[in-house]
Amino acid sequence: MANPIIAEKLLGWYDVHARRLPWRAPPGAPPPDPYRVWLSEVMLQQTTVAAVIPYFKAFTARWSTIEALAAAPEEAIMAAWAGLGYYSRARNLVACARAVAAQGGFPGTEADLRALPGLGAYTAAAVAAIAFGERAAVVDANVERVVSRLYAIDAPLPGARNPIRERVAAITPAKRPGDFAQAMMDMGATICTAREPRCLLCPLADECCARDAGDPARYPVKPPKKARPERVGNCWWIEGDEHVFLVRRPGEGMLGGMRALPDDGWNAARDGHGEPPIPGEWRHCGSVRHSFTHFHLTLHVHAFAEGPMGAVGNGEWWPLDDLDGAGLPTLFAKAARRALAAGD
Ligand code: ADE
Repeated sequence: MANPIIAEKLLGWYDVHARRLPWRAPPGAPPPDPYRVWLSEVMLQQTTVAAVIPYFKAFTARWSTIEALAAAPEEAIMAAWAGLGYYSRARNLVACARAVAAQGGFPGTEADLRALPGLGAYTAAAVAAIAFGERAAVVDANVERVVSRLYAIDAPLPGARNPIRERVAAITPAKRPGDFAQAMMDMGATICTAREPRCLLCPLADECCARDAGDPARYPVKPPKKARPERVGNCWWIEGDEHVFLVRRPGEGMLGGMRALPDDGWNAARDGHGEPPIPGEWRHCGSVRHSFTHFHLTLHVHAFAEGPMGAVGNGEWWPLDDLDGAGLPTLFAKAARRALAAGD
């Protein structure tokens, strides 16, 4: 039987200390619009609150309803997402928005939300709890940390996920489950932090097994780290008449669906082949570094210097004075800056 004191203490703490965030209702208030909850939860996966806030504001100013987002061209949404990373989220966002609009609005249960395209287990639980008041177990990395400490769960992640989820399901209250979930997140972000948890300020300190045992930072127990491989690729800056040649990356795969500079096919599994898209002389402008979840990439940037510039292939000539409007993902925005700096 779960200890009801935990929810009581946590909600009392949240009533005073909840972070005020643009997608949230104040503690105890009626739930916010499911569209705003869903959008924020998708954006917040693997991304910090500080990074999400301007994107959330820009998206909701431009597309204030799920219907408006569903009617927008996919390209415009991908471009607006540029810089936020993990671009498969934006593609899934589009698919999900269109399905929701087609069925006349968000379904109101975790199970029906889970059945929408591109909407995963975490998002279904978060939207069900926060927007619809369902007693769903919401588990993100912050919640994992808080709960693995609260119960001193010794199994390393990711194996500990199931026991953690069971504990969360047991302590989530029937009243205010959305506030409870967000209180857990706020605790994880501000008090029960990864390093040097601030147990003196913690409303759950008296209930916490890890604190009792004297070493809360030991949890969650991590599996041994795998080294991320180093990959090398090349990209090609082709400029003519105040325009640069851009391609659109294939829908699946790294940065899928995003505008980009032409490159040589590097990916998470292998280096690029090194062949430029057209023959000619190329000037090496230096390289940029970027870290993806599964590898680090060094991308060499080459500018077309001389040669017959025939048909370059599928793509578009983009005006240099509106490069920001192309919505290049961070890797290629860095590469473009390098090419431009080298040309000065
Ligand atoms: N991280 C994921 N969802 C969140 C939320 N609703 N509030 C704060 N941080 C979050």
